[in-house]
Amino acid sequence: MDRSLLYVSRQSSHLPDGGRAIAAMVAAAGVHNERTGITGALVCTHAHFAQFLEGSNPALDDLMHRIERDHRHTDVTILRVEAITRRRLPTWSMAYSGSSTYVARQMVPLIGEMSEANPARIERLMGLLVGLASPASDPL
Ligand SMILES: Cc1cc2nc3c(=O)[nH]c(=O)nc-3n(C[C@H](O)[C@H](O)[C@H](O)COP(=O)(O)O)c2cc1C
Repeated sequence: MDRSLLYVSRQSSHLPDGGRAIAAMVAAAGVHNERTGITGALVCTHAHFAQFLEGSNPALDDLMHRIERDHRHTDVTILRVEAITRRRLPTWSMAYSGSSTYVARQMVPLIGEMSEANPARIERLMGLLVGLASPASDPL
């Protein structure tokens, strides 16, 4: 059985040279995810991450343990976990669009207030992550 998961987190303030550190992390994550059958997407602002992940239960459990212990971010808040029969990003071991003004503008209002996460906001954040990875199938 596969599962999908969406979380947001706060970037650690001591991330060295943010952009490059994140690009290196994404490259390593892609290799690991490909090996373990995980697919998903990551977006970030200057202050937060949001990540959507899909995979088998054991692979996702193992990955989330590592992600939650990772000092490059804090306050990992899982917003949604779902059992799935079909993946939304079957061809992406880790889609990452870099940090852009467009993404930041979309994300800040969604992520900033996640303490009061409501289903509509979670849905929009998920749509943003999936849409960035597959723009052709999800035109704006
Ligand atoms: C925001 C964020 C997203 C991450 N996403 C992944 C991922 O999708 N896959 C992955 O293998 N590691 C990811 N990592 C890195 C893991 O937390 C961890 O460092 C890596 O899997 C190596 O784990 P290990 O040092 O325990 O072997 C992510 C880290 C952060 C901060």
